[in-house]
Amino acid sequence: LTVETGPIEAAHAVGEALALMARRLQESGIEEPRREARMLAAAALGLDLAGLILHEGRPVGDAAARANAMLARRAAHEPLSRIRGEREFYGLPLGLNAATLDPRPDTETLVDAVLDHLAAAGGGHPRILDLGTGTGALLLALLSRLPAARGIGIDIATDAVEMARNNARSLGLGDRAVFRAGDMMQGLDTLPGFDILSPDGVFDAIVSNPPYIPSADIAGLAPEVRLFDPVQALDGGADGLDFYRRIAADAPALLVPGGLVALEVGAGQASAVAGLLDRGGLMAIDTRRDLAGIERVVSGQTRARL
Ligand SMILES: C[S@@+](CC[C@H](N)C(=O)[O-])C[C@H]1O[C@@H](n2cnc3c(N)ncnc32)[C@H](O)[C@@H]1O
Repeated sequence: LTVETGPIEAAHAVGEALALMARRLQESGIEEPRREARMLAAAALGLDLAGLILHEGRPVGDAAARANAMLARRAAHEPLSRIRGEREFYGLPLGLNAATLDPRPDTETLVDAVLDHLAAAGGGHPRILDLGTGTGALLLALLSRLPAARGIGIDIATDAVEMARNNARSLGLGDRAVFRAGDMMQGLDTLPGFDILSPDGVFDAIVSNPPYIPSADIAGLAPEVRLFDPVQALDGGADGLDFYRRIAADAPALLVPGGLVALEVGAGQASAVAGLLDRGGLMAIDTRRDLAGIERVVSGQTRARL
């Protein structure tokens, strides 16, 4: 196939459009340009990957404008999930907007850790608090696996709260999840909807994937992150640990006996965060690695009832 340059036109065959996309993405410094081009073309043309091969010779037609627009965004390093407006997390389709972090596969490690803990704690109607909920990823993944659980998700960004609420509704989880705007645990007990967790408003698990990038490191992040994830979702203060300090200080008082705090951490932060949870009075401090072998989750528990 001769690879032309320039925009995709209606008369181009799907295979030619794919080649044009791959060339443009390569020129823009996107890694794995062919694979990215296939995913982008599939999204633009409304086909799956098999359909792209099957219809290789078919003209692109009306989809050319959409394909060019999507290509320009990806060439500017916008992540494909943002271009699509959707990301799959723990098997759930989650809507994204400019105020939400694009949930990462590594964060699924935290969901597994909490599910294991709650299974070991046994049955009941677990109540879960998700601090810095973003799209609602953690809370919604947990509720999707725990039919008797309820929870509350808090975020400082009101547009993220709106998106989390929409996600809960479209996943059929809206009656067991409330989402509220707020500053971490501050004023939590006065928030409308907190009574979803009655009688005593304490939690079996507090989860968080807080902002944890040291402020000075943000400028050096990949453009996909630096330019498109909201800085409010990234900035963890001078050493990246500001939110862990607050959670370690305030979370234990909100937990039932034997309750769990489980936190995602950045690479190299696990031992510092374990120290903070220990000093906050938590026990059974544990770490869990992600699929790349990086210590990704740190957890601790309150003393169990005797
Ligand atoms: C790293 S993102 C995690 C989002 C989501 N939980 C996930 O795992 O995909 C951190 C989130 O914390 C929120 N956040 C930042 N400061 C906050 C604060 N003071 N109180 C509550 N949420 C905050 C951000 O808006 C962002 O949604």
